[in-house]
Amino acid sequence: MTQLYEYRNTLNIIALAAAIFIGIGSISYTNYLVSLILEQEEQQTSIFAKVQEYIATVEPNENINTLIAVIEENYTYPVILTNERDSIIDWRNISIPKGKDSLSYLAKELAEMKAAHPPIVVEPAAGLKNFIYYKNSTLVTQLKLYPYVELGIMIAFFAIVYVLFDASRKAEQDKVWVGLAKETAHQLGTPISSLVAWLEYFKAVESLDKSIIGELEKDVSRLETITARFSSIGSPPVLKFENIEQLVRENVDYLQKRISSRVRFQVHNLEQHPLQAPVNRSLFEWVVENVCKNAVDAMAGAGTISIYLSYTRDSKHVQIDIADTGKGIPKRLWRRIFKPGYTTKKRGWGLGLTLAKRIVEDYHKGSIFVLASSSAGTTFRVLLPRF
Ligand SMILES: Nc1ncnc2c1ncn2[C@@H]1O[C@H](COP(=O)(O)OP(=O)(O)O)[C@@H](O)[C@H]1O
Ligand SMILES: [Mg+2]
Repeated sequence: MTQLYEYRNTLNIIALAAAIFIGIGSISYTNYLVSLILEQEEQQTSIFAKVQEYIATVEPNENINTLIAVIEENYTYPVILTNERDSIIDWRNISIPKGKDSLSYLAKELAEMKAAHPPIVVEPAAGLKNFIYYKNSTLVTQLKLYPYVELGIMIAFFAIVYVLFDASRKAEQDKVWVGLAKETAHQLGTPISSLVAWLEYFKAVESLDKSIIGELEKDVSRLETITARFSSIGSPPVLKFENIEQLVRENVDYLQKRISSRVRFQVHNLEQHPLQAPVNRSLFEWVVENVCKNAVDAMAGAGTISIYLSYTRDSKHVQIDIADTGKGIPKRLWRRIFKPGYTTKKRGWGLGLTLAKRIVEDYHKGSIFVLASSSAGTTFRVLLPRF
């Protein structure tokens, strides 16, 4: 029965791998584009440097000015030209925001450029040195950020899809649970009422052994309990304040008669008075039964099941700890055992704990989890809100 679970896990892993692959692919492609543009900008810078040298060596002339203008218009990135004493001679592609002092703005830009790249040295005349500082155009800066923006969007997208998918799957599962439970209760109803009528008839027959009828009555009432459970899980159950200790003791007495006498039950109420909480009796019994039956299985039919009842420290919950002396559960499975279909038993369905969790969490707004486990045994904790 574990196959289905494993299969879904594999699908999840494949989807995750695909997402990572797409993410890495798009980042490296964008990085590749960025490096192309950077290369191009660096080439442009060296052209700019040559032009600067050229301007310095020839007398100004119409044609050259046009040529320079054309080259300049093709620059996309900001540049600043300085002399040997670090004062600014010229700049391109820097728009000084309105109301800002141009000198201090340029000084700030220059500092940024110095940090970004080493300058290109130009020699307009022998023994004379100028420096061209530059930094990446805003286009490149934005493009560098782009893959991360893209990744963020992708993660958000996958998260949304996952949440929607999960919600719809849960809704579907809900329908199956509820529908199946209602249908079962409904179908059991007719034969049970007929059995009750038969019992009344047998009671009137003088010659029949009364003890047999007593046993039959117990079985029929058990069938009624089962039907009540199925019908309560199929519709919003009614909760009533119950004495939890009494409920647990009755439950345990019932179980004790039906399992190996080598399993011992102990119930301890750690408070000085009866514990009350609103529960649906038939559903809550189902929880105790499922957890105890698992404990019996884990102990291979011999051991002790100790149940401790108390209030939580904040006294908002009734706390029920069910401890066995069984083989234990590895920590990595503490959550997984509550998933539908997870079982380690040859003849298990892996639904007992799923059902218990659903009953405790959805119908009682409580919680159920593995509190501790080792090779010496396992303790499950159930918390039920008191109000
Ligand atoms: N008290 C326990 N000790 C050890 N293992 C447990 C215990 N309770 C549950 N398990 C593990 O959790 C699994 C799921 O339990 P459950 O949902 O009741 O399904 P099933 O009893 O049909 O296997 C069990 O197969 C078992 O491996
Ligand atoms: Mg079980």
